[in-house]
Amino acid sequence: MQYTGFQLIVGHLLLSCLGESGPSDPNYFFYQDFLNGNGNGEIHFSGMKLYVDTVQQAVLPVRGGNATLPCRYWYDPELSTPRRVRVKWSWLPATGGQEEEDVLVAIGPRSRSFGDFRGRVHLRQDFPGDATLVMSGLQLNESGRYRCEVVDGLEDRSAVVDVELRGVVFPYQPPHGRYRLNYQGARQVCEEQDSTLATFDQLLQSWKEGLNWCNAGWLADGTVQYPITQPRVPCGGHGLAPGVRNYGRRHHHKHRYDVFCFSSSVRGEVYYLPHPDKLNLTDAQQACRDDGAQIAKVGQLYAAWKFTGLDHCDAGWLSDGSLRYPIITPRKNCGSSDPGVRSFGFPPPQYKHGVYCFKSAD
Ligand SMILES: *[C@@H]1O[C@H](CO)[C@@H](O)[C@H](O)[C@H]1NC(C)=O
Ligand SMILES: *[C@@H]1O[C@H](CO)[C@@H](O)[C@H](O)[C@H]1NC(C)=O
Ligand SMILES: *[C@@H]1O[C@H](CO)[C@@H](O)[C@H](O)[C@H]1NC(C)=O
Repeated sequence: MQYTGFQLIVGHLLLSCLGESGPSDPNYFFYQDFLNGNGNGEIHFSGMKLYVDTVQQAVLPVRGGNATLPCRYWYDPELSTPRRVRVKWSWLPATGGQEEEDVLVAIGPRSRSFGDFRGRVHLRQDFPGDATLVMSGLQLNESGRYRCEVVDGLEDRSAVVDVELRGVVFPYQPPHGRYRLNYQGARQVCEEQDSTLATFDQLLQSWKEGLNWCNAGWLADGTVQYPITQPRVPCGGHGLAPGVRNYGRRHHHKHRYDVFCFSSSVRGEVYYLPHPDKLNLTDAQQACRDDGAQIAKVGQLYAAWKFTGLDHCDAGWLSDGSLRYPIITPRKNCGSSDPGVRSFGFPPPQYKHGVYCFKSAD
């Protein structure tokens, strides 16, 4: 018990100050005397302990959604009146490597939020000891480990909650071909397709769900990996177990690979445009605009497939000039026997096909 020495000293000092006339349980007396009137003064813990608990280990929101990160603190023995504590929420982004960043700091009813979290987070404070963080409008890159820290004088306790956005990982290769992206380029193409660089945990999760992809791609932490569920010779060789193959950290500028992007639900609708004619790429873009929409991005098509069950067996143009269609229920003449988004590369833009559009709900 790390505070023993401290308690003894404090106990002694207090006893000296207060005289010898206290009740028989000196600890009890101190709480009454010091904690009631002087709530924001330095705490003198004499056997009293502060506890912090997050109850739930992980929350699984979607992009744009809200997340409630439970956290509560209490004292043992119990307090008769609430104390003023400092609550701090910080996070370690799942993108790897960085330091913890501040999310919100609160003292009593006053609080301040930081960075991109400003105006999107608040403490719930529904009951004494409630330090639950309520977040709204979650962004794709806000997965990570969130820490709830409660400071009362010299006591400082914390607990963590993982935020794991639910979403979908997709491999991406730009129009100009395989292994053309350095790290920065990889980040950019994901953003252009309404997604973000996938984290290792997100790739691992999609491997568990069956993603089998034999091209190495960047991840958010700067490593290059690829998921194999069906080992074969060109994908790591004979006799290797299924798994996520790891090339390790690669040089951010010099090395070039494909990329794994991560998307989550979208606020709006992705749909195959009913149109009497097949269209070339420029006419397809215009046809979506004429319908009060935009030609869909790759991340939006994957999100619609994953979250709204979009299933349509006609290939359609997407904003990057690729041609794809989403299948939930595999059937004859609609590609492989597994569900998935079928991809047909980047046909010449004058070729005529259907088109997928996206109509935003905002
Ligand atoms: C998120 O919470 C806000 C209030 O804080 C509410 O207005 C909004 O509808 C919620 N959004 C979702 C997607 O639940
Ligand atoms: C997360 O994404 C948003 C929107 O794309 C961006 O503004 C923000 O800087 C990103 N935050 C981090 C920590 O990368
Ligand atoms: C698509 O067809 C239109 C005519 O309908 C033409 O003006 C346009 O140049 C064509 N675009 C491409 C990329 O071939």
